[in-house]
Amino acid sequence: RVVVLDFGGQYNQLIARRIRDLGVFSELLPASVSAEKIQEMKPKGIVFSGGPNSVYDEKSLKCDPKIFDLELPILGICYGMQMIAYHYGARVERAHKREYGKAELEVVSDSPLFKDLDDRQQVWMSHSDVVVTAPSGFRVDGKTDSAPVAAMSNPEKQVFAVQFHPEVRHTVHGYEIINRFLYDVCHCAGNWSMETFIDDAVKEIRQTVGDQKVLCALSGGVDSSVVAALIHQAIGDQLTCMFVDHGLLRKGEAESVVKTFGEKFKINLVKIDAKERFLSKLKGVTDPEQKRKIIGNEFIRVFEEESDKFGDHRFLGQGTLYTDIIESGTDTAHTIKSHHNVGGLPEEMKMKLIEPLNTLFKDEVRKVGEELNLPEEIVWRQPFPGPGLGIRVIGEVTEEKLEIVRESDAILREEIKKAGLDRDVWQYFTVLPDFRSVGVMGDVRTYAYTIGIRAVTSIDGMTADWARIPYDVLERISNRIINEVDDVNRVVYDITSKPPSTIEWE
Ligand code: XMP
Repeated sequence: RVVVLDFGGQYNQLIARRIRDLGVFSELLPASVSAEKIQEMKPKGIVFSGGPNSVYDEKSLKCDPKIFDLELPILGICYGMQMIAYHYGARVERAHKREYGKAELEVVSDSPLFKDLDDRQQVWMSHSDVVVTAPSGFRVDGKTDSAPVAAMSNPEKQVFAVQFHPEVRHTVHGYEIINRFLYDVCHCAGNWSMETFIDDAVKEIRQTVGDQKVLCALSGGVDSSVVAALIHQAIGDQLTCMFVDHGLLRKGEAESVVKTFGEKFKINLVKIDAKERFLSKLKGVTDPEQKRKIIGNEFIRVFEEESDKFGDHRFLGQGTLYTDIIESGTDTAHTIKSHHNVGGLPEEMKMKLIEPLNTLFKDEVRKVGEELNLPEEIVWRQPFPGPGLGIRVIGEVTEEKLEIVRESDAILREEIKKAGLDRDVWQYFTVLPDFRSVGVMGDVRTYAYTIGIRAVTSIDGMTADWARIPYDVLERISNRIINEVDDVNRVVYDITSKPPSTIEWE
């Protein structure tokens, strides 16, 4: 493996990702990790990532200086390079002009990182400080117009550094540069894959858990499903999964969870029917944030009460992903919506956490799911929010309104699948606004609800665009909803991107 130290740059998760794509296991560690801890992990190399600070800022993150004595190959990227320069006593200065975007790198040495690559190549820069002269023992490997030292190395110590970002696609030879670091400098074996990931995870879970019991909250979503299947593979009957049906699920969802996990995988599955409980708590509540909080809290309460009944579980299995950690880890980000995850559970429950997916990205989790033979409908399930249909019924949630959303949503899903669009459209669902409008059906005036269709394309849900679903597909969906769902006389299509909207309406 190769470890990446996180100094807070926006592309850091990509670095670990690229390394794994190249067949070497990699994970992001906090910048504060000690040299001893790294030594224990026995990596073949270390990458220092980018970061927003200047090395001269008092608050700027610095690594444990003993890391430089571990005699492991190091690759510093952007801020990582400046930190290396600073450590070895070179001058880092504020650049005359910030360099952001494409730049041309001129390679001026025979550094193994650039072996057989073009002498002049396009790279992606994003920095305001520059290393002016290479520290002693280092040589300059490359320069750009505004960075006299855009790449440098100390071949003897196996320390390499680049000012640009090899992990982003705009750096034309970025992959190859990382590849050379991994294989020509660190001599990695390159045998990391999803299968080895599963083998390692299984071993680790067994070792951690011993003969104790593990509890998992199963929602039927991709992450919790994959984590349940993985832990089950490791410890079989020592795992109990709890599935809370809060009555805010889509049509057929509860049945599918029971069928897959209870019947096919034969996992100890406890299904809790908490529909009444949630509905009565939501009675009369119209404020979206309040609804989210009620659903989240009630979920924790049900989980706590019920888990007590199933004996002594020392561990709680969770499908936390790498991206969840990144997103919830920002101190400065505004709360747009309070996301409800099972994430709130552990501290209150005093169980130890097992999070075997917390180094993976969503598409990698899907690959693990496929390896574990989870059905396609689970592995490729679109994201579904924790508060479920509770935030797709705008205003007060009632059983009658939930039924309208459930039925219209089922029609939408069916038609999108039939049209072969289910893998292209990232997320699609219906919402029920809190108003009625006038219509006419068979010469009779109607006064009924409107259904909103929301369908978006996205990579990670952070930004999104409305999906260009063909008109004839939309027409079929609209006709079917009007004809098949009671009390609906109008269908509208949401054509806003995120931002300025969000994906969900509440
Ligand atoms: P928004 O509406 O914030 O949604 O643009 C972005 C993505 O997150 C999902 N979402 C949630 N997921 N718990 C979740 O696990 C939540 O409380 C929650 N709220 C929104 C939403 O469906 C979309 O995919």
